[in-house]
Amino acid sequence: MCGIVCAVSDKPVLPLLIEGLKKLEYRGYDSAGVALYDPQPDGDQFARTRSVGRIAKLESALAKKQDSLSSAGIAHTRWATHGKPTQFNTHPHVSSGKVALVHNGIIENYQGLRDELIEAGYVFSSETDTEVMVHEIHRQLSLGHDLLEAVQSTVKKLRGAYAIGVMNADEPRRIIGARSGSPMVVGIGDNGGYIASDMSALLSVTHDFYVLEDGDIVDIQDGKITLTDINLKPVKRAVFTSQQSDEAAKLGEYRHYMLKEIHEQHQALADTLEGRISGTHVLEGICGADDQALFSQLEAIQIIACGTSYYAGLVAKHWFEKYGMPCQVEIASEFRSRKHVVPNNCLVVTLSQSGETIDTLGALKVAMEAGFAHSLSVCNVPESSLVRESDLVLMTRAGPEIGVASTKAFTTQLAALLLLVCAVCRHKNLSEEQQAAIVTELRELPALAAKVVSRASEFEALAEQFSDKQHALFLGRGSHYPIAMEGALKLKEISYIHAEAYAAGELKHGPLALVDENMPVVAVAPNNSLLEKLKVNIEAVKARGGKMLVFADEEADIENDKNCQIIKITAVDNIISPIIFIIPLQLLAYYVALIKGTDVDKPRNLAKSVTVE
Ligand code: F6R
Repeated sequence: MCGIVCAVSDKPVLPLLIEGLKKLEYRGYDSAGVALYDPQPDGDQFARTRSVGRIAKLESALAKKQDSLSSAGIAHTRWATHGKPTQFNTHPHVSSGKVALVHNGIIENYQGLRDELIEAGYVFSSETDTEVMVHEIHRQLSLGHDLLEAVQSTVKKLRGAYAIGVMNADEPRRIIGARSGSPMVVGIGDNGGYIASDMSALLSVTHDFYVLEDGDIVDIQDGKITLTDINLKPVKRAVFTSQQSDEAAKLGEYRHYMLKEIHEQHQALADTLEGRISGTHVLEGICGADDQALFSQLEAIQIIACGTSYYAGLVAKHWFEKYGMPCQVEIASEFRSRKHVVPNNCLVVTLSQSGETIDTLGALKVAMEAGFAHSLSVCNVPESSLVRESDLVLMTRAGPEIGVASTKAFTTQLAALLLLVCAVCRHKNLSEEQQAAIVTELRELPALAAKVVSRASEFEALAEQFSDKQHALFLGRGSHYPIAMEGALKLKEISYIHAEAYAAGELKHGPLALVDENMPVVAVAPNNSLLEKLKVNIEAVKARGGKMLVFADEEADIENDKNCQIIKITAVDNIISPIIFIIPLQLLAYYVALIKGTDVDKPRNLAKSVTVE
């Protein structure tokens, strides 16, 4: 799972390649490299710079080359799969000083190809699966093929996923790209042609793109862009004009993107709701012109997602079933690898911030092949693969989310899902009065979210008690159990403290054995019908010497004492309270990570968009 950006222009391309890589850093940040067409005194045709670590490190390593006039180059940011993040494994890879290549994806049959190439005399300098491609292209060129044919015959031999950019030293004004299974867009510029893993990388030079499909090959030569299929037959792809702005993704006054994104939640929620509710109801057509006709026939919902998005799905299950619509939720990587009994008239709902998560895309494909009736994506990136591949879409409108730990994407997913619950369940058990009540709550949601965020310093003060801890438990019940899960995920991914969530009723079935004074236990306690049972669970922890931190509704009536610290959260209606209760947990995790000095926006071993299985 990596990011690539390539450019052939009549201007120097290095600044664009570096800026593009910074935009793609969410896809991986173990190591990065650039190859420019720039004949060297020693006879090498490419000036290649690679460094282990962040793009900023590559940028420093390139400081002396800032004035490079090279007008063609390829660049890569890596999230290691085959081979550690070392200089040797960093892309671009080069064969015999003649062919340079960058790759996003995984080649499954690389070992066999590697053995063949070694037998043919090629010497490998990395442990990557990628390197087979660059040598194979070189071998095809030596057999007399043109670069396009060499790329074509190479990709025909591959099994797995690839998006590649290739340069040939003998053709300095040409770059070839090809994709299958990994995303690739082609930027159409006045001064050249560009390739990248996504549009954000190229917005400083163009807003016009071709979105390549599996098997497509692009040949960019002297400002001309030619698209073909894998058999080199010309194909037409519509020009897509991106509406994304380059500005929204800037850090501004904030110390981290995660903090900025937590603070943006009230606006993001307002944007998610805008134009979708009117009077006492959710408008028809929020998911597409004919959505009501389709929703009126639905008999079941199947939600598929990963990570934080999966937890949003678990909350939504409570909402759908409360109003009479059967709903199953499954982790995408599990869903895609088993057989299914397909319910009648079942809508598959995929949830994803990025819309590029390979497991979610794979699960959608499996669902459609298995015969699920319809698909809907709740997604944050309008131009993503998931949006393109779904029948209906409901955009979350959270704006760019850069911090690896999802925050505003989660709360806006929940708000969008609540809109969807109204749009679907009014054909089931949701009465007009109940819909009106939900709409009233939704209208108050942005202001309530702002109010909780404004108490950030109170949550910061709690963080100290976690800083020397190795483990933590999170408890919740009902629709707040997934909130406990999401709170635990936030803490573990950015502070590296081991945190687990339990449905509070499960505590006595095992995990209670873990509780002592070194195990902080966090509970989410809204004022609902499950509160009395949760209070019993809290007492059980206190009786074992455990220390509780309880985020409770103002009206929950739980007493502070030396083993139980109560943090009162605004009194809020039960239906939207999961959206409010996650905010203090996001802030708590953020401030614990600050004390621990971790890299909050780019935690170790992770990437923002997970494009490997
Ligand atoms: C955690 C986090 C991940 C993502 C997961 C799915 O903070 O962000 O767990 O939620 O990788 O990503 P999307 O939503 O882009 O499909």
